[in-house]
Amino acid sequence: MLIHSASQLLTLAGGPQRGAELGRLGAIADGALLIRGETIAEVGSSAELLRRYPDEPRLDAHGRAILPGLVDPHTHLVWAGDRAAEFEMRLQGRTYLEIMAAGGGIASTVRATRAASREELLAQTRARARAIFRAGTTTAEAKTGYGLDAASELNQMQTLLELDAEGPLEIIPTWLGAHAVAPEFQDNPQAYTDQISASMLPELAAWWRNHGGGRPLPFVDVFCERGAFSLEQSRQILEAAKALGFPLKMHVDEFENLGGSRLAAELGAASADHLVKTSPEDIAVLAASQTAAVSLPCTPFGLADPAYTPAKDILEAGGLLALASDLNPGTAWCESMQFVLALACRYLKLTPAQALAAATINAAAALQRADRIGSLEAGKQADLLILSVSDYRHLAYRFGGNLVETVIKKGRVYTWPQESSPA
Ligand code: NIG
Ligand code: FE
Repeated sequence: MLIHSASQLLTLAGGPQRGAELGRLGAIADGALLIRGETIAEVGSSAELLRRYPDEPRLDAHGRAILPGLVDPHTHLVWAGDRAAEFEMRLQGRTYLEIMAAGGGIASTVRATRAASREELLAQTRARARAIFRAGTTTAEAKTGYGLDAASELNQMQTLLELDAEGPLEIIPTWLGAHAVAPEFQDNPQAYTDQISASMLPELAAWWRNHGGGRPLPFVDVFCERGAFSLEQSRQILEAAKALGFPLKMHVDEFENLGGSRLAAELGAASADHLVKTSPEDIAVLAASQTAAVSLPCTPFGLADPAYTPAKDILEAGGLLALASDLNPGTAWCESMQFVLALACRYLKLTPAQALAAATINAAAALQRADRIGSLEAGKQADLLILSVSDYRHLAYRFGGNLVETVIKKGRVYTWPQESSPA
């Protein structure tokens, strides 16, 4: 299939973009691309590709912008129920950490998720997977973490693998049994930490051999925060995971700085995420490492908190910055990476080009998948978007709507009638 006549074909070619390089779009005016099966075969100008492939089935982009499918490297996609009541409590002055310490927060979603039937959990999660795909996310990382015992965590993992197999959204799974201290261990968090490192992680590794369907091992993530896991407990869990061969991720510096970003860099984690209370010294360590810095601007927005990731400082230090939604029922029920771009331009002070690179090729790097997704280059997976507008900057300039008209995932075309006013 030959897709042609894109006003702007944004390739994002050339690999992940560190520091001052961020925002290299690799734009081709009046661009075209040739897809063979699930793969991009060629990228070039419409004039050239139309001349060289006259008999190829065609898809006319009619002067709209084409860009890589958005990659969301941090979601908590799989849960049951909602926390609308806690949202209202926060509006009345209670803080997120207070609600969590009083047995609400993550623990309340754990209760709802454990109580849900498999079918219910699958149905609620599927609805979100469809919504985020419709909004232009072609690959999303998704974390377990609302089970907090071996069987419930594996049940969530199974749900994610089933939805990935079902498609069209591609799901990169993460095991987050260390999202909160399990209710059974409330009085002894260290015992839960010991259980994770000594038994839940080896059990996960064994389960994966039978149920992983040949996929690479999932990431293992830890919420390093007061009221969740200390720096020492995070180290214990992540070192155990690393010894079993799991790639690593971390939630760090969301509310308090416990030193998690340095630990992520030291252990070679794929990413350190949140990064709100991160110090200049931590930023320097992170920027000098291979660990991607993932910012989640929906989270402070969702909490009506004025503090955001110091993204400019991360870029000045030469860091690899990526953006994600953090989709979760507590702080950020946001199914649109387009809204993440809009927030990133306003509160992280990124340009639309920087935000887009952070949500495509750099987001793919935060998932260790930049060789396969995140840019439009020959040999890469054919995951791309055709917008309803000709200027990609509208993705960040407008907000609250959906400017994605067509999603192409692994070469398959999904299209919806135009809903937004053109530009
Ligand atoms: O990334 N910080 C930990 N996890 C989520 C919140 C999850 C929840 O509140 O249910 C986050 O913000
Ligand atoms: Fe999170």
